Amino acid sequence: MSKVFDPMELKNIRLKNRIVRSATVDPFGNKGGTVSDAQVELYRTLAENNVGLIIAAQSGVADAGRISDDQNLISRDSFIDSHRRLTDAVHKAGSKIILQISHCGAGAMSIDGNPPMAPSDVPYPGSKVIPRPLAVAEIEEIIGQFIAAAVRAKAAGYDGVQVHGAHGYLLSSFINPVQNKRTDEYGGGIENRFKMAEKVIRGIVNELGPDYPVLLKINSNIEENDETYYSDLVYVAKTCKSLGVSAIEYSGYNFTPLGRKGLHNYYMDRVSALRREVDLPVILVGGVRSLQDMDAVLSSGIDMVSLSRPFICEPDLVTRLRNGQEKATCISCSKCFYLYYKEGRRCVFHEAKS
Ligand SMILES: Cc1cc2nc3c(=O)[nH]c(=O)nc-3n(C[C@H](O)[C@H](O)[C@H](O)COP(=O)(O)O)c2cc1C
Ligand code: SF4
Repeated sequence: MSKVFDPMELKNIRLKNRIVRSATVDPFGNKGGTVSDAQVELYRTLAENNVGLIIAAQSGVADAGRISDDQNLISRDSFIDSHRRLTDAVHKAGSKIILQISHCGAGAMSIDGNPPMAPSDVPYPGSKVIPRPLAVAEIEEIIGQFIAAAVRAKAAGYDGVQVHGAHGYLLSSFINPVQNKRTDEYGGGIENRFKMAEKVIRGIVNELGPDYPVLLKINSNIEENDETYYSDLVYVAKTCKSLGVSAIEYSGYNFTPLGRKGLHNYYMDRVSALRREVDLPVILVGGVRSLQDMDAVLSSGIDMVSLSRPFICEPDLVTRLRNGQEKATCISCSKCFYLYYKEGRRCVFHEAKS
């Protein structure tokens, strides 16, 4: 049987295999930000079907950092109970779950007509909305919101937290020089551009102790000067190791077009190189679609594989793979970003109202 079904330890938690469900926002959240019954059922299904580690969809650390009004929040203590229903369901089904905490920055929805917030006045990729650059005092406030959110996540029963530093959202936009044009202590070299994420992680580890798993998700590439960005990533990985991060999950800014080209394991070579550079567990996400893909990823030295779209299409995919199905049905068309809102189904392979 594939090595991907071997158990492993992540800090103080034991995972039954090396397959991760990458954080994936769904359209089922209650408008006020609480976890809905449909979401509890969605995560129960993933857990009952042998996903080793589930990363719950990004939950907003602040109401102003939300991508849409059905996104879950963890911005106040009053949200803890609804998240606990979800962690209880997953634990009863024998899986582990960590919460991704995020601020969507320039990608956040507008509240009361105010522009979203970002390091600089550079729009979120693909958007024309000019964000408002944050003052240093506001940056410090949001760092505090991330730390408070992580404390709530632990209280809600999550087995760890993942800090969302990928896909152009707030922390990602500070790290990426294309989006960060600041000239103060949060802009310039990678030491400054990573400072906000570093303070978030340090604060969480200080609050929750060295044994509680804290993960980071980050883009493995950027749109311009990508070769220089590789050395930024080495700096980030070394810093994460010294901060006590349990694992880094690497995605990329361009997983949507790469998926449509029919490619697999998009970022494997770079992530495998980073794994050799710094001795810190890494998770690859992006285009992992078959047992063959998974074996190739693990053979390259990467510790775990992570999938998003295939679990939208087939939430029971791990059970199917264990029972002899060789690859996911998902064709990486990315219509799942909007299909539910247009047709009441999440995937092109689902019947309506799924
Ligand atoms: C509908 C949808 C929602 C997503 N939501 C999140 C999210 O909440 N947080 C995140 O880090 N990535 C999110 N992603 C990105 C995935 O986690 C993953 O990084 C990306 O889809 C590449 O993996 P894949 O090729 O296995 O789909 C989302 C992707 C999709 C398609
Ligand atoms: S809509 Fe397309 S990309 Fe999304 S899960 Fe279905 S097949 Fe995969």
